[in-house]
Amino acid sequence: MRITRILYREVLKHIDNYSRFNPSPLSIEKFLNFGKEACEQTSFVFLRKELPVRLANIMKELHLLPNKLLDMPSVELVQSWYERSFEEILSFEKSEPESRETLETFCDTLIKIRNRHSNVVETMAHGIMELKQLHQLDQQTEHCIQYFLNRFYMSRISIRMLINQHAALFGTDLASNNPRNIGVIDPNCNVKGVALDAYDNARFLCDQYYLTSPELEIEQVNSQNPDSPITIVYTPSHLYHILFELFKNAMRAIVELHGDDHDRLPPIKITIVNGKEDITIKISDKGGGIPRSLREILFHYMYSTAPKPSTSGLNSAPLAGYGYGLPISRLYARYLQGDLVISSLEGYGTDAIVYLKVLSSEANEMLPVFNKTSTKHYTSTLGTHDWSSGSLNYGMTNNGNSQWDVPIGLKH
Ligand SMILES: Nc1ncnc2c1ncn2[C@@H]1O[C@H](COP(=O)(O)OP(=O)(O)OP(=O)(O)O)[C@@H](O)[C@H]1O
Ligand SMILES: [Mg+2]
Repeated sequence: MRITRILYREVLKHIDNYSRFNPSPLSIEKFLNFGKEACEQTSFVFLRKELPVRLANIMKELHLLPNKLLDMPSVELVQSWYERSFEEILSFEKSEPESRETLETFCDTLIKIRNRHSNVVETMAHGIMELKQLHQLDQQTEHCIQYFLNRFYMSRISIRMLINQHAALFGTDLASNNPRNIGVIDPNCNVKGVALDAYDNARFLCDQYYLTSPELEIEQVNSQNPDSPITIVYTPSHLYHILFELFKNAMRAIVELHGDDHDRLPPIKITIVNGKEDITIKISDKGGGIPRSLREILFHYMYSTAPKPSTSGLNSAPLAGYGYGLPISRLYARYLQGDLVISSLEGYGTDAIVYLKVLSSEANEMLPVFNKTSTKHYTSTLGTHDWSSGSLNYGMTNNGNSQWDVPIGLKH
């Protein structure tokens, strides 16, 4: 017991040390160029420092969460995974990069870590649900949690990207099913192709759930090169994730509004445009839209108007219900300097617009940094109102996330 505590204190010291470094963001161009040269030793030397830095930065933030959340068994479990993985990578601190055995063990360790962390999103979500069942959360705690989850999941996306890229280039697993891929990156990722895949799979779920699904109309405008398909240097699985979530949302809205008569369902329209700076993908549905008052909380984790999916595991994947679709999709888009915006006409329909960077040199990773500014979000109370609208509801709908909120009991 004593030994465990001493060891734990040692780990904490290392976490402190590594968290003092800022993560080093890579552009997708750098990923690609490095992948073409594919020097395993260089990758090893980079990752054995960069992975602990990214892990330590986010673990320091995790430690700042309210104690009542840290005490939830699922959150403790997630913490223990992070500590274990951090230690495992640290064990390579002094290894010889020239040794074949070191490189192979390192790659195996990364794959083990990736597998250990595969359920982090669900487990963390479970911890927060447990907390909400036990306690009524105040606005400050809600704000902390939403702020943390955005950074925590973004950090996770980035860490998995580094691990997947190394494993795909140097490991035996994850053999790419596309020979032109460099690791997990497709230098000529066909946007329409990924969109069609995402639509087909969302449609499959929609058919299972509602026994019908809307058709798809596609418009593609390549303003730079009118006769060519629109392609981007990208990780296809990330783009797929975003579009799959948006199609599921659009389909649910359409069928819920128009009923299950297939002939009366208005189609979903996808517009893909290639500009000089941005590739823009707009998914438009006539599913009735979303009121403006809900605009902020759409991107809150766990905001969903769908019934909670069954946890029996007997049914197939649900079409909706966790309230993670939009916030996680926006993180995937923002990870490489893109964005996801929802614009809606209530009473008519919704446009979900995805922006991606055309230039791979500008598509830099967006990574959370642990510092005084981020710490403030966990330690200081929300500021007071500096506008008065006379409407109490105005501040209350967006759950502590913007300048408009008045934390209860904190008027002056
Ligand atoms: N195209 C849309 N039209 C109407 N409402 C939408 C649309 N997209 C999202 N919404 C609303 O936003 C909520 C949150 O969407 P989100 O995708 O984050 O979660 P979800 O679909 O409920 O669950 P899941 O995590 O399984 O995706 C939805 O429950 C729905 O009420
Ligand atoms: Mg959804």
